[in-house]
Amino acid sequence: MAEIRRPETMARITTPELAKAFIDEQIALLREQIGDNKVLLALSGGVDSSVVAAMLIKAVGKQLVCVHVNHGLLRKGEPEQVIKVFRDEMDANLIYVDAVDRFLDKLEGITDPEQKRKIIGNEFIEVFAEEARKLDGIKFLGQGTIWPDILESEAGIKAHHNAGGLPEELNFELVEPVRILFKDEVRVVGKELGLPDNMVYRQPFPGPGLGVRCPGAITRDRLEAVRESDAILREEFARNGLEGKVWQYFTVVPDFKSTGVKDGKRTFDWPCIIRAINTTDVMEVTVEHLSDELIDHLVQRIISEVPGINRVLFDYTPKPPATVEYE
Ligand code: XMP
Repeated sequence: MAEIRRPETMARITTPELAKAFIDEQIALLREQIGDNKVLLALSGGVDSSVVAAMLIKAVGKQLVCVHVNHGLLRKGEPEQVIKVFRDEMDANLIYVDAVDRFLDKLEGITDPEQKRKIIGNEFIEVFAEEARKLDGIKFLGQGTIWPDILESEAGIKAHHNAGGLPEELNFELVEPVRILFKDEVRVVGKELGLPDNMVYRQPFPGPGLGVRCPGAITRDRLEAVRESDAILREEFARNGLEGKVWQYFTVVPDFKSTGVKDGKRTFDWPCIIRAINTTDVMEVTVEHLSDELIDHLVQRIISEVPGINRVLFDYTPKPPATVEYE
């Protein structure tokens, strides 16, 4: 099949009406392409895979099999939201794989950032391929490829990652319903498909998840401290009108401890670092300056609610020289 490309004349999808027209057109094409075959989709809960899932559910219903792999490095509440939105509300055919122990056991003691990323990526493909082999009659693989992915891979900036890595014997044909869309258009389409705002307007989240925010060897207790502090930060940003305004914000819990005091007793616990940044292209990044009031409130909540934290630090470093993530 010829590669589908974005028509030069295509208007930017900015309104519900344009989104609806796009959805109707794609649904017809998807039905034609898929027929009565089955489609498999790795559903992470991120914007692109969620919109692809919603579109395919609308087009072929239960012929779509979604696989959500919980690798233990997701944010608080994410696996639950995927199940709620897709299985409960959209009645999707959803396989939930609890692979938390499998990933964390493999990562135990691994300190090198690149090795951590590799383990997470490879294990993900393995878990997904195992699920695929258990299923009969899957012909297609759904993918959240978007137009910038195609442009960047053509320009040699990055490999077009989406298809990468699945064993060849699985031999899937690709279905890419948002392939010709820019990210902002994917969000408009997702909203029109009825996905919740906190899924559609979600901040970027790296594939290796909280793993890169738990620098060095990941331990379950420090990972929980990252997850809990991240949940508090997101809650406070939402409460203070910063959700959707600040590009990306998260916490990092580094692998060192410092002395503190609590209830008259010495503590020896980790610091929690807060990073909030703005950017348009992620090549250059500026820091979001928080109000004194919000800073004080975040410090109070995190030190009193997150076990293992006795200090809160703020990272006010732009990129360059500091990258967004710590690993
Ligand atoms: P850096 O740390 O390179 O991050 O300045 C730039 C943006 O990319 C995101 N990021 C990733 N996204 N897989 C992803 O899907 C990754 O491995 C990854 N590493 C970084 C990061 O969150 C930021 O938005």
